[in-house]
Amino acid sequence: MQTIGKCLRSSSALLTERLSLTLREAMVESEILLQNAIGKNRTYLSTWPEKILNTAQQDFFQKILQRRLNGEPIAHIIGTKDFWDFTLKVTKATLIPRSDTELIVETALQISEKQQITKILDMGTGSGAIAIALARKLTKAEIHASDNSSKALEVAKQNGTVLADNKIVFYESDWFKEITETGFDIILSNPPYISTYDKDISPEVACHEPKTALFSTDNGLSDIKKIAAEAAGFLNHDGWLLLEHGYRQAEDVAKIMSVSGFTEITTALDIQGHQRVTYGKKK
Ligand SMILES: C[S@@+](CC[C@H](N)C(=O)[O-])C[C@H]1O[C@@H](n2cnc3c(N)ncnc32)[C@H](O)[C@@H]1O
Repeated sequence: MQTIGKCLRSSSALLTERLSLTLREAMVESEILLQNAIGKNRTYLSTWPEKILNTAQQDFFQKILQRRLNGEPIAHIIGTKDFWDFTLKVTKATLIPRSDTELIVETALQISEKQQITKILDMGTGSGAIAIALARKLTKAEIHASDNSSKALEVAKQNGTVLADNKIVFYESDWFKEITETGFDIILSNPPYISTYDKDISPEVACHEPKTALFSTDNGLSDIKKIAAEAAGFLNHDGWLLLEHGYRQAEDVAKIMSVSGFTEITTALDIQGHQRVTYGKKK
């Protein structure tokens, strides 16, 4: 007989052993999987540790636990990921939004405190994470978002309907090719920036997330160069370009932005103190 408590203890031990998670990480993941399997929240799990699971619940839990033990990301198993102050739908077609990406949202909001921002473009929107966070905060601004993946855009549109009152304008576009609007106050992007030669990338990421969302040629800088080269033409006179990048790319990105017509170039640090977002104003 499997109780909630037993189930959590045995799955945490397995996750620690097989995926080298800390016990705390394994416990959090076990709870997320079990909540998903039995349709109850975390408070229920901690209030009823002696509750016996029925056969269907046990079978379903074992099935999703096995997927996790095989290295599938938890967000793909449960189909959602928390970002900012909301929960996004995610699929295999979208990058799983990272908490590091909240920095680009925060940076855009800081700019909006000093300057009126009425029109924003999020390029390579994926699940819609950045565009939706900004749409919810800057309720008077027009928010536009693009991606060249039609499957990612389907998910972003669904998220935009549920989480941002359907107010985001979406484009299927290879960077600026199909963008019909100009006059943006902010263009921002978390583009693919991992070098195709990077050997440090974990198999969980490399095997399960879309390669087109992760990798870029030219030492990871090719997409950043394409965006920076054209952004000024789509920005207002005092508009800003904000780019997320790898923690060792800040200097290169600053140079690229400088030659592409940007000034006041600044790099913001993420919560681990890594250089993560570089931004500048149109000259
Ligand atoms: C690192 S992911 C970021 C996703 C999302 N913005 C986030 O932060 O979670 C990069 C995104 O850029 C998109 N992308 C890649 N190449 C592109 C291109 N040439 N034009 C437009 N979007 C592109 C990918 O489909 C992917 O959704």
